[in-house]
Amino acid sequence: MKRFFVGITGASGHRYVAGLIPALVRAGAAVDVSITQAGCKVLRHELGIEAGEQGELLASNLGAWLGPDIAAGVRVFDASKIEAPPSSGTALTGGVILCPCSMGTLARVSVGFSSNLVERAADVALKEGRTLIIVPREAPLSAVHLENMLRMARLGAVILPASPGFYHHPKSIDDLVAHVVGKILDRLGLAHEVGARWKGLEPAGDSGIGTAPPKDPLSDEPRSSTP
Ligand SMILES: Cc1cc2nc3c(=O)[nH]c(=O)nc-3n(C[C@H](O)[C@H](O)[C@H](O)COP(=O)(O)O)c2cc1C
Repeated sequence: MKRFFVGITGASGHRYVAGLIPALVRAGAAVDVSITQAGCKVLRHELGIEAGEQGELLASNLGAWLGPDIAAGVRVFDASKIEAPPSSGTALTGGVILCPCSMGTLARVSVGFSSNLVERAADVALKEGRTLIIVPREAPLSAVHLENMLRMARLGAVILPASPGFYHHPKSIDDLVAHVVGKILDRLGLAHEVGARWKGLEPAGDSGIGTAPPKDPLSDEPRSSTP
């Protein structure tokens, strides 16, 4: 069983990580989670989930948030616990996902500044040559943000913005979240059924500009394999 580390930071978009963690568990992965101090504030504000000031309440509230079955597949570490297994390259992981990733965490990771477990886990993924997926959320982006993302991409990280497409005619926030989560799972090489895959446009006249899109151009068939 592959184990993944999910770092939650103080960027907006905690709905994405609320979709990601269950999707990882359902895909058969073991999941380690840590949340930054700012992440605790945003989690409380956006989703009404209490993680404490340092993430110390996240483990006990995870079941109420994501369901007991999901929580059973997750280990939670305080971000201050720099001695926890994800701090070491000897603790094998299939990858690290920062979701959502603040510009602050992005900046610190981009210069190897590991001030907490989330940043250190990302630092370890880089030094060990393991998958590191960064899901940034900010708008607009300054040159500093863009340069930091470019630096990370050149170092081998995957920059996967919380930027869902609309070509699948999403009908709910869950649909938007699934679009991003599905892309994360694809990059991790996990088989999953999150979201829908593009099947091409309808034949001319059946849909398009000036006509109502009566049919979803994407099949409702679930995803069953990865490229
Ligand atoms: C409600 C709220 C929403 C925020 N949204 C974002 C955001 O989308 N992107 C971002 O980079 N920072 C955002 N911030 C600011 C970060 O939380 C702040 O820069 C923090 O220091 C990041 O710390 P961290 O990287 O340790 O989590 C937000 C803050 C709050 C309170």
